[in-house]
Amino acid sequence: MQLPRAPLSLCPDIANVAIAPCVIAMVGLPARGKTYMSKKLTRYLNWIGIDTRVFNVGEYRRKATEMYRSHNFFDPGNEEAWEIRQKCAMDALEDLCEWLKGGGEVAVFDATNTTRARRQMIYDYCTVKHSYKTFFVESMCMDPKIVEANIREVKVTSPDYTDMNKDVAVDDFKKRINHYESFYEPLDEEYDKEMSFIRIYNQGEKYLVNRVQGHVQSRVVYYLMNIHVLPRTIYLTRHGESDMNELGRIGGDGMLSSKGGQFAEGLTKFVEEENIPNL
Ligand code: SIN
Repeated sequence: MQLPRAPLSLCPDIANVAIAPCVIAMVGLPARGKTYMSKKLTRYLNWIGIDTRVFNVGEYRRKATEMYRSHNFFDPGNEEAWEIRQKCAMDALEDLCEWLKGGGEVAVFDATNTTRARRQMIYDYCTVKHSYKTFFVESMCMDPKIVEANIREVKVTSPDYTDMNKDVAVDDFKKRINHYESFYEPLDEEYDKEMSFIRIYNQGEKYLVNRVQGHVQSRVVYYLMNIHVLPRTIYLTRHGESDMNELGRIGGDGMLSSKGGQFAEGLTKFVEEENIPNL
């Protein structure tokens, strides 16, 4: 679906900027919100006028093979599956660079990319070979409650688990994560100091930002530091009746009418009685 763009008056600085093509490569164990962030970031960049597309390696894998029956597919010792996974990652990367060559501006490579070898391969292919900037976005989440919630809310509805009992799917997904954990090499402040990256801890508790290069990457960092990934509740209310409303007018920046004042007091009482934590 083609999303509308923001009016240029909202992003005048973008209107005249030539964008150097950039690859945003996600990093992190499964169920760390990478796909969610990739999609949100893509919507945002498109909205401000930067032509952006996501390339999700899981989707390439599902198209390439029906072999996924259980977490064993992700066992690092499963050589046949390993070959398939490598090929899917490479296919996605090739498509992504082709798309940038055809005029795309930002390509989001949505995959786990949990090893240094994989990240080096991405950098060599995108930056050394094709001269596109590469920016890594790592989502690191150590809070088991957040991971569990993500698995239950998002992962069990994945096409990998169609027709599978929810608890069996949760169990399988946790075992899938264990396979990745056995060879996970997070981005490292010292070892990866030449790379451009942001590491997001516990969905926004804190951030580590390294070697941000250029306009797109600054936008990405700004956006990622301001989004809310965890579910939360938003309460909406209309204002109380205004003296403009009494005259049958909408807007007009009027004062509250006496009924409007009663409404405001009633709303205050209601909210206090609800006793909502952290409101
Ligand atoms: C997947 O096949 O679902 C994910 C592949 C990956 O990035 O590890």
